[in-house]
Amino acid sequence: MALLKSDMAGEGAKVLPRHIAIILDGNGRWAKRRGLPRTAGHAAGAETFRRIATYCKDLGIDYLTVYAFSTENWKRPREEVEAIMGLLGKYLREAVETMERDHIRLKILGDASILPESLRGLIHETADISTHYEGFQANVCLNYGGRDEIVRAALRFAEDYRAGRVSTLTEDMFSGYMYSAGIPDPDLIIRPGGEKRLSNFLMWESAYSELVFTDVLWPDFTGADIDAAIAEYARRDRRFGGIKK
Ligand code: FPP
Repeated sequence: MALLKSDMAGEGAKVLPRHIAIILDGNGRWAKRRGLPRTAGHAAGAETFRRIATYCKDLGIDYLTVYAFSTENWKRPREEVEAIMGLLGKYLREAVETMERDHIRLKILGDASILPESLRGLIHETADISTHYEGFQANVCLNYGGRDEIVRAALRFAEDYRAGRVSTLTEDMFSGYMYSAGIPDPDLIIRPGGEKRLSNFLMWESAYSELVFTDVLWPDFTGADIDAAIAEYARRDRRFGGIKK
């Protein structure tokens, strides 16, 4: 990263994305290639998340959002869903211990209401600790769907409109009804694992995100892959519908 950082010194921080989002993909294939159960791939993926979150924080990224469990992932075998929930619980329990020390904010994006009671308690605990800090924020999308998020936002807006609390709607106001309210849109979305689609991830927020796809399977993902994605991002010409200056 040294090269990129020194490049940034002259160019200004604009080449460093403020918000990186990642679709965690390839855990199952990683495990299969090693003759391991899929759940071993998820355990390795959870470790990779921990490593990459620290890497992004140290790099000066403000927000890292990961797609860990979608509204569609409930279709997977019960043992796999239970293993993923167990890993998330383990991660959140450890986060409660370390967030205060490392000054990390953690937010869960998604419908927590149908998650196991123990996970809901931990989500509240980490949200509460997060209010004490400013700085790096990790967002974990859990029971999350991009279209679902938009529908829920529309319903919440309709309630406010009916009650007379609002009389108009702008894009900024609508963003305030999303799970991601208050979080800047992702500048860069990375999808490891070889697929080239968004799979219902951040449908509203990704309007102007730069997309980077890589064949690396998520458990194998390293800081060098983050560097490569940021270097690719820095080469892009972000015009937001305008023209090149
Ligand atoms: C996608 O790989 C991965 C998932 C659906 C689960 C991701 C969950 C974790 C890594 C667990 C804990 C997460 C955190 C943030 C602590 P896949 O199973 O679809 O892989 P495949 O396409 O190779 O089958």
